Amino acid sequence: MLNIALPKGRLGEKVLELFEAASYTCPSIHEGGRKLVFENVEAGVRYFWVKPSDVAIYVERGTADLGVAGLDIIKESEPDVYELLDLDCGKCRMAVAAPKDFRDDPALPLRVATKFSRIASAYYAKKGRQIDLIHLNGSIELAPILGLSDVIVDIVETGTTLRENDLVILDTIMPISARLIANKSGYKFKTEETKKLCERLSAVLAGRKNEGKRS
Ligand code: PRP
Repeated sequence: MLNIALPKGRLGEKVLELFEAASYTCPSIHEGGRKLVFENVEAGVRYFWVKPSDVAIYVERGTADLGVAGLDIIKESEPDVYELLDLDCGKCRMAVAAPKDFRDDPALPLRVATKFSRIASAYYAKKGRQIDLIHLNGSIELAPILGLSDVIVDIVETGTTLRENDLVILDTIMPISARLIANKSGYKFKTEETKKLCERLSAVLAGRKNEGKRS
């Protein structure tokens, strides 16, 4: 049985669809309600719905053999796990954004608001720019509007949140997509099952890519 931590929410629904297309179906997970653990013994899977930012913790500690986490979470928490596959969904980017009229004053530390403190710190350290890091937990776009920060480091997907709050992208730090991650010792004990799952997922992804090219 493979224990798989799926990120609860929009991304999780897409990912589940991908796993089911790869034959790892689980009828009971579609019944609705507030249940969090579902299994299909025949398909050899047990799925858990986990808060997206916690998936890597479940996988690193071996509660889940596998999990799906965004590259943003992986880079921010640097879990000791294997990254097996780019699942080509949940695509967005990590970006620096600021109000349209922002002008950087190099004489002062740059006030940076973000949920991604490690990513932001590494980015500015590489640039040699001193920052005043303001760690927030959500609605990051509010910070520069209200004058709490000069810039933000955050996820941009459609760009709507930035646009509607009069913010513009100054730089893209990295492209993001969902990754399949594995617990290191779990991988040793369940190598065959895990490889099979990766092969099947890769086949579905390749098929989708070809369909996309044709249409
Ligand atoms: C994320 C992110 C941006 C928004 C970007 O926030 O932090 O605010 O989505 O998406 P867009 O480019 O399509 O507008 P989320 O919805 O996760 O909520 P949060 O503000 O609580 O982080």
